Amino acid sequence: MSGTLKAFIDLAPQLSHFQDDVLSGLSATPKTASAKFFYDSEGSRLFDQICTLEAYYQTRTECGILADQAEVFRQSLPAKAAVIEFGSGSDQKINLLTAALPSVSAYVPIDISKQYLIDTASNFAANKPEIAVSAICADFMQHIDLNQIVTDEPRIGFFPGSTIGNLNPPEAMQFLRNAAKTLGAGGYFVIGVDLKKDPQRLIDAYDDDQGVTAAFNLNLLARINRELDGTFESRSFQHKVVYVNDPCRIEMHLESCAEQEVKIAGQTFHFSKGETIHTENCHKFEISEFQKIAADAGFIAEQVLTDPGKLFSIHILRVA
Ligand code: AVJ
Repeated sequence: MSGTLKAFIDLAPQLSHFQDDVLSGLSATPKTASAKFFYDSEGSRLFDQICTLEAYYQTRTECGILADQAEVFRQSLPAKAAVIEFGSGSDQKINLLTAALPSVSAYVPIDISKQYLIDTASNFAANKPEIAVSAICADFMQHIDLNQIVTDEPRIGFFPGSTIGNLNPPEAMQFLRNAAKTLGAGGYFVIGVDLKKDPQRLIDAYDDDQGVTAAFNLNLLARINRELDGTFESRSFQHKVVYVNDPCRIEMHLESCAEQEVKIAGQTFHFSKGETIHTENCHKFEISEFQKIAADAGFIAEQVLTDPGKLFSIHILRVA
């Protein structure tokens, strides 16, 4: 069943932006591609599959915190609020947050994956007719003016999944400063942050033995072939995961298995054997380290919730 959206606003980057970003990233040394381009329909589907893997402890652990500590969320956050979710993806986590906060009046999911956003937002609206749903298709790094959409209610930002870890430190600071402005005085931010831990545990979470994360990473090449007239042979690249200590992060790469040339949108790119495209960073934090970043960005750290194994954290921040 599909519910009615109060609004659907399409600010999504055009195909030409995808092309420009891919061509410039692959012209750079070392070669890079932005992780946001993982999320075409197939990429969103593969990501949801990652979230169910045994090795990928993040999703079930964060959902456990949202469910088990619902009372803390209810007591710490304003009633009758509008929840703005950055990079919304599946509705699993917003369902848990709204179960904890029964008086939420509006929900604004922001996501780059258009059809997936329409489907999940409509489904959420059908299940929760008392909540006004306005979906925005955009890159969450874009400035989005919410004043036409959310008027009087206090705003709660919601950024689960440790997606903040995809950003490099200056980008994360910029994002948090913009979020503080967008959420405004009286605003709160609920943000999921994956914690530092044994490197092997982290590597396993991004290099699962079923190969789902490898398929997710390699789908970027298939997407470039589909949308930008590319000639990647996905069998001549392999998924590669690297642990870096400082700043603490997992890197995902696509490694060329041979010397080869690939054409994209008429341009030729040369790969030497073993050369990689750096496709994603997933930064990991200590609790106090993240609180300091949040404070520098204009937030007061109100609460931090973790699971008993201290694998994952959810911070409740208030706009200073
Ligand atoms: C969606 C960015 C939170 O970094 O763990 C999962 C993406 N990449 N497996 C993460 C991801 C490979 C995920 N985030």
